[in-house]
Amino acid sequence: MAIRDATDVFSEWALKNRDEGMESGHANSVNDMLNLAIPKLKTSFSAIDVGCGNGWVCRKLETLETCHKVVGVDGSKEMIVKAKAKGSGDFHLANLPSWKPLDKFDLIHSMEFLYYLQDPLEMLKIFFEEWLMPGGILVAGIDHYRENKDSLDWPDALNVKMATFSESEWKRGMLNAGFIDVEMHRAGVKEGFVGTLVMLGKKL
Ligand SMILES: C[S@@+](CC[C@H](N)C(=O)[O-])C[C@H]1O[C@@H](n2cnc3c(N)ncnc32)[C@H](O)[C@@H]1O
Repeated sequence: MAIRDATDVFSEWALKNRDEGMESGHANSVNDMLNLAIPKLKTSFSAIDVGCGNGWVCRKLETLETCHKVVGVDGSKEMIVKAKAKGSGDFHLANLPSWKPLDKFDLIHSMEFLYYLQDPLEMLKIFFEEWLMPGGILVAGIDHYRENKDSLDWPDALNVKMATFSESEWKRGMLNAGFIDVEMHRAGVKEGFVGTLVMLGKKL
């Protein structure tokens, strides 16, 4: 069977309400990620969630007094239909990397998105050069990575192409993209789960 586009698979998931399982399943890791990133930002910041799914992280950011603007983008039509139905946020249907926002952001957040791209390390460069304000922060979390052995059969199980990199390869990608103060963390660790691999970096 031909390899499937991730965005088609996630549209099917949205129609089966499996976006809600991702929302609850990813919440602990995303809370850890936001707790790492937000204290590093100025007191009034703009944010974009890339691969936003049903938009739950955008709605969470909207509740923060310090966040004055939130945008979400995803390539799945059904996820964006849901995101728009669940709130009044600014959501865009777009396949990445062939879209870019009109403005730059203080915070770029993404959860469980990067490894679906053909060239995730090039996306890190695009984030750095074209999407991020000076002084801005990128925080990205992924559960499919070399050290998470339980995740290594996901490409076959879903019949979707995924980029499988190690923690050191992702870190090198962040540094090569131009980020400074790069930090690597594990978020949402619990029994039976080695944690979400989190990369965080700043643009000077
Ligand atoms: C595992 S889901 C995570 C969704 C959300 N971040 C969450 O935590 O619930 C990955 C999301 O990335 C989106 N995605 C994958 N490849 C994409 C691409 N090339 N362009 C835009 N979105 C993409 C999918 O449509 C899907 O909604």
